[in-house]
Amino acid sequence: MKVLITGAAGQLGGAVDAACGARGLERVALSRPELDITDQARVEATIAAHAPGAVVNCAAYNDVDGSERDMGPAIAINALGPRNLAVACRRADIPLLHVSTDYVFDGQAERPYTIATPPVPLNRYGESKLLGERYVEQFSPRHFVVRVSWLFGGSGGKHCFVSKMLTWASTRETLRMVDDHVAAPTSVHDAAPMLLDLLEGEAYGTYHVTNQGACSRYEWAAEILEAAGLSDKVRLERARRAEFPGAARPAYSVLDTAPLSLRVGWREATRRVIASAASGASDPRGPGGAAG
Ligand SMILES: NC(=O)c1ccc[n+]([C@@H]2O[C@H](COP(=O)([O-])OP(=O)(O)OC[C@H]3O[C@@H](n4cnc5c(N)ncnc54)[C@H](OP(=O)(O)O)[C@@H]3O)[C@@H](O)[C@H]2O)c1
Repeated sequence: MKVLITGAAGQLGGAVDAACGARGLERVALSRPELDITDQARVEATIAAHAPGAVVNCAAYNDVDGSERDMGPAIAINALGPRNLAVACRRADIPLLHVSTDYVFDGQAERPYTIATPPVPLNRYGESKLLGERYVEQFSPRHFVVRVSWLFGGSGGKHCFVSKMLTWASTRETLRMVDDHVAAPTSVHDAAPMLLDLLEGEAYGTYHVTNQGACSRYEWAAEILEAAGLSDKVRLERARRAEFPGAARPAYSVLDTAPLSLRVGWREATRRVIASAASGASDPRGPGGAAG
């Protein structure tokens, strides 16, 4: 199977590219300049030219606060882009795996959101991602919609919390981290192989993929500092979400991953990413990407 990856310069896109390589799958990894998914004619022409056996959409506009101020880019990239891919995949009769987010939920729950829970987004980013899900479901019969949360570990991304924490820790004496926002950190190196597992079958539908367990940003930050040997160098303080400006975020967006399960917990995944960054390895799961 030849896999066409959009948004391939991003965190997850790069990891899906690497996971295809580890499995010996032929792939076409396209960054934004190579394929802008908002350009419907180019989407059609690119899929016709490469004739992939499946498409994985990792392209997205992830600026949550920016989406609140101006929803235009979010609608274009998170909703109309996936629609363009869905229409082209239907025409080519190939599966489309589209990546979505825990932010389609409002965060009011007290137990993990299942794939059967009706989504109710709290902010405009979430609304745009939900519209993208709906378009994919509507226009591509052979679809997978995979929601992930708090992605980290990718080399190309601007949104990796672990990288940001390490940078902040080297420049600041005190860090204040939100303690009333809980979700499941998810390593792109663990999620990407699971996306390929899905693509290898025909069990189409909606899925949740995260590392096991859940934590607040404060707990995650503490784990990162500990794993990086920086706990003594930086003072970590608890903060409340309401202290910071910007779009509302779901307070609790833990995803119930049934029927799937990533065996690796978020703490172990975090430590692997930090250890591999220190050693210069590209995939923290080791040679060939074999999960432990
Ligand atoms: N990061 C998280 O914590 C998180 C949490 C939940 C869900 N997700 C979802 O997971 C998926 C992957 O996220 P990620 O963290 O890998 O994001 P990322 O690192 O920001 O990568 C997204 C990529 O999409 C590209 N892109 C933007 N607009 C595009 C367009 N019009 N056409 C083609 N490519 C375009 C970006 O390029 P530029 O950089 O040049 O704009 C970037 O390389 C997304 O669907 C995201 O919504 C992410």
